[in-house]
Parts: sequence; C-alpha cells; structure tokens
Amino acid sequence: MTVASDYILGQSANAAKRLELQDRHFAVPTEELLDALSLKPTDRVVELGCGPGGLTRRIVSRLGEGGKLISVDSSAGLLEQAALYLKDSGAGKVEFVNADASKPGAWLNGADVVVGRAVLHHIPMAEYLLGKLRGLLRPGTRVGFLEPDFRSPLARLAYLEANGYPEYAALRVWATAINDLYSLRKISPAVGATLGRTLETAGYKNVSTAWYEFQSDSMVIENMLMFYDEVGTTLEKYGILSAAENAEQQRLLTALLPGPHPGIWGMFRAVCEV
Ligand SMILES: C[S@@+](CC[C@H](N)C(=O)[O-])C[C@H]1O[C@@H](n2cnc3c(N)ncnc32)[C@H](O)[C@@H]1O
Repeated sequence: MTVASDYILGQSANAAKRLELQDRHFAVPTEELLDALSLKPTDRVVELGCGPGGLTRRIVSRLGEGGKLISVDSSAGLLEQAALYLKDSGAGKVEFVNADASKPGAWLNGADVVVGRAVLHHIPMAEYLLGKLRGLLRPGTRVGFLEPDFRSPLARLAYLEANGYPEYAALRVWATAINDLYSLRKISPAVGATLGRTLETAGYKNVSTAWYEFQSDSMVIENMLMFYDEVGTTLEKYGILSAAENAEQQRLLTALLPGPHPGIWGMFRAVCEV
C-alpha cells in the first residue's frame, strides 16, 4: 500500500544525499543510542521514519542470525532509496514498510526495540504517539530516539551576533527559517528538548537523556545550504524567505565556511523501557 506523505522536507535523490551526509554527522550520537538500547543480535527492532536508510544500516550491522528489523516510512521514494542503500549489507534482515508511523499497525507487533532518529519532530503532536506506543508494546521493550532542538542554541547565537559577531546573522536566519517552517506545519522544531519529560510522563521506566550539540563546521554548513536548495520553493510559498533572500543567505553562509562556528542546533537522545 502506498501512503500519501506530506513530509515537509525533500524526498528526492538530493534529499537522500543530504540525509546521508547527516548520517555521517550523527555517527557518534547514533552509535551511542544503539549502545544505550543494548541492541542484541537476535532483537526484533522496529525503526520509525527510516528515510534513505542511514540508521537502518547501522542497526542491521548489529543484528545477527535471527535478528530482524522492520523499517517504517511514509515516503515511498525514500524507502526505495533505503532498499538500494541496504542491498549489499544485510538486506535480508530488513523489511521495509510504507506506513504512517503515527498510526501503529501490525508492523509493531513483537518488537523488542523501537527506535527512531529525527522522525518525531516530523510527527504533529508526537507526544500522543509516544503515550499510545507505551500501551501497545510489551513490558521490557526498549525505546530510544534521537531528536533535534533547533531553538535553545539560538539564545547563544543572539548574544554573539549582538556582541562582535554580526556575521552569525546567517546562522540565525537559517535557524529561524527552519523553526518558522516547522511551526507553520504544526510540527515541533524542539521536540527533543522535552522528550525525556514526555517519556516519564507517559509512564516509561528508566528514562535517560543526553544532549549533543554540533558546531557549525563545514559539514553542518553544507547541510544547511542543501536545506535551502531542497525547500527553497516551500519557504517562498509560505512567505518565510523569497528566492532572492534564499540566494543571499546561501552566499552569507558560504562566506562562513569552513568554520567551525558555534552550534545552532543539536540532538537529544532519550532512551527508556516500557
Ligand atoms: C529527517 S528524516 C530522517 C530519516 C532517518 N531516520 C535518518 O535519520 O536519516 C525524517 C523521515 O521521517 C519520515 N516521516 C515523516 N513523517 C512520518 C510519518 N508520519 N510516518 C512515517 N515516516 C515519517 C520522512 O519520510 C523521513 O524519511
């Protein structure tokens, strides 16, 4: 079954390339997430919002005989990219499911682990999903997410911009654009920041959290430039940034290369048990 996706970011090969770059950038927090989940070779793992398969591949490399990964995504295009990406590395252990992760289905059955990276912030009112999941999972199921916060680092940036670093306006405009875009789409640009509290409130056990902040180095700035290309038309449609402003912001960001400069976003890791 094909599921209509209104995922706000791109689903093209270029978007997959941006997510692949992001996978390298997220390598340390991702491996630490899988460590914190104590992934075992025989686990049945359900991955929410797998996209083009960066996290998928990391999970599969930890599974052995009898292990199984069910990777769910609402974008048929990105699932195709994931299948291609995984074809030479443990593809037999993965089943790809085209579904809306906010509506749990049979794909969730029997999970030992539920995991997602950068997916909850694309799900409106993700808190509802997390509460609902707790009731559907078996006691002892390990649950873990890595989710961004595009807001709190703005405070430091605002200070620096006003105190000797006017060129950081380019970082601030980018962060504001992504916050505005997500807010208009009723998705949270800071779901990571409240994730630990949300999981505790939902009744999950042994909740632990960690914060990873990314310096604005060349990899991050490159990713920001790709974002501007990917959603330029959408930013224009919503009146967030015109095409001319987009081009100017890309010029100003490029002038910050190679960095590093202070971070304007980071990820929260939250791990718990049902
Ligand atoms: C930022 S990408 C992250 C992809 C991947 N987890 C990674 O870390 O590379 C977000 C992914 O979530 C998927 N997604 C967004 N909303 C979804 C939903 N309601 N159900 C399933 N997948 C969803 C998108 O299609 C996209 O692949």
